[in-house]
Amino acid sequence: MGETSRKICENPGRWIGETLESLRSKSLYRELISRERREGLFYTEKEGEMRDFSSNDYLALSEHQEVKHAASEAVLEQGSSSSASRLVTGTFESHTQLEKKIASWIGTESCLIFGSGYHVNTGVIPALVGRNDLILADRLCHASIIDGAVLSRAKLKRFAHNDLAELESLLRMEREEREDIRILVATESVFSMDGDSPDLRALSELAERFSAWLLVDEAHALGVFGEKGRGLLGEVGFDPNTTLITGTFSKALGSFGGLVCCSREFSELLINRARSFIYSTALPPASVAAADCSLNIIQNNRLGDRLLENARYFRDSLKNEGLNTGIGDSHIVPVIVGESERALRLARKLREDGFLVSAMRAPTVPEGEARLRISLNLNIRRKDCDLLVSALVNYIRDGR
Ligand SMILES: Cc1ncc(COP(=O)(O)O)c(C=O)c1O
Repeated sequence: MGETSRKICENPGRWIGETLESLRSKSLYRELISRERREGLFYTEKEGEMRDFSSNDYLALSEHQEVKHAASEAVLEQGSSSSASRLVTGTFESHTQLEKKIASWIGTESCLIFGSGYHVNTGVIPALVGRNDLILADRLCHASIIDGAVLSRAKLKRFAHNDLAELESLLRMEREEREDIRILVATESVFSMDGDSPDLRALSELAERFSAWLLVDEAHALGVFGEKGRGLLGEVGFDPNTTLITGTFSKALGSFGGLVCCSREFSELLINRARSFIYSTALPPASVAAADCSLNIIQNNRLGDRLLENARYFRDSLKNEGLNTGIGDSHIVPVIVGESERALRLARKLREDGFLVSAMRAPTVPEGEARLRISLNLNIRRKDCDLLVSALVNYIRDGR
């Protein structure tokens, strides 16, 4: 450790100050803002009431009476904690039942539930590949996939976003060079910041052709897309022996926790090797019960179709006004504005008008592609969409 680093360790205040100041000067400083949330509205004394164009509670199930009731009942019956890791005393009948239900929904032999979607990707990836192996991940993959890749110590290469031609050439080159390595291809079925999707059928075929395993994170698709909300991969088919589908309960399912669907063999391996599964307390009863109840509601109603119809209406309105909404066709609608400062300014103005919209900046999105990430949920009506479009268009025309 050099003298400067040693001095920083002895007295970190100045270094912390300079680091934070550098983030502030690039409009990349982040802070926590407390808000109340009731019946689909966010509220603070200073900002007043705001419509939710920002959360991931896409189907508004976290406030559904039946879901809330199921969670409360579970707490009263089983307590507020699952008390230990799944492998100690933390596997309850409710965990096993939910896993069976999800596996049959997605169409895989097995499902394992984890503490969160972040836990899933950071646990599953290092359980599958190691130091001598290779991960090929889409450039815009979520941080949990990248963190899982780093934890695995495998070589990580990123291919350009949704660029299957580049993925194919990487697969060809790597397989020619090293026949005997495990390769894992990782991507998402709906990207969280762009709301777009890869060609999953072609991706699945590519992985199969080059004997690679495929991990598709369906965090933003589950509950919304596909038959009975089972996501996008099930619509095109996949190799059940070599594909893993990951996801979360924290978005359309209105709860908390994560899931991986895969073959029985993979699942057995994960129980024995996924460290975030082994060394973390099992999902608590309230989250399990809420996810289970949401799943019943999703399977018996076409909530996703309604959401997607509204999203199409909203996106078309923005496009008609000449705004750049990217190429996606989902309930996540980016409005790409370029500079971080501009995205922050627009989000602030919209909050003043009663619309809770988030500004996304680097490193969450690529440098120079700062945006408003607008996500729709079932509490948003078309009238609200119209109001947001006209406010946004006015601010952008004013040069804000
Ligand atoms: C694609 C993707 N994967 C995983 C996660 C993590 O899920 P969780 O919030 O359950 O940790 C997120 C959440 O932001 C996500 O967008």
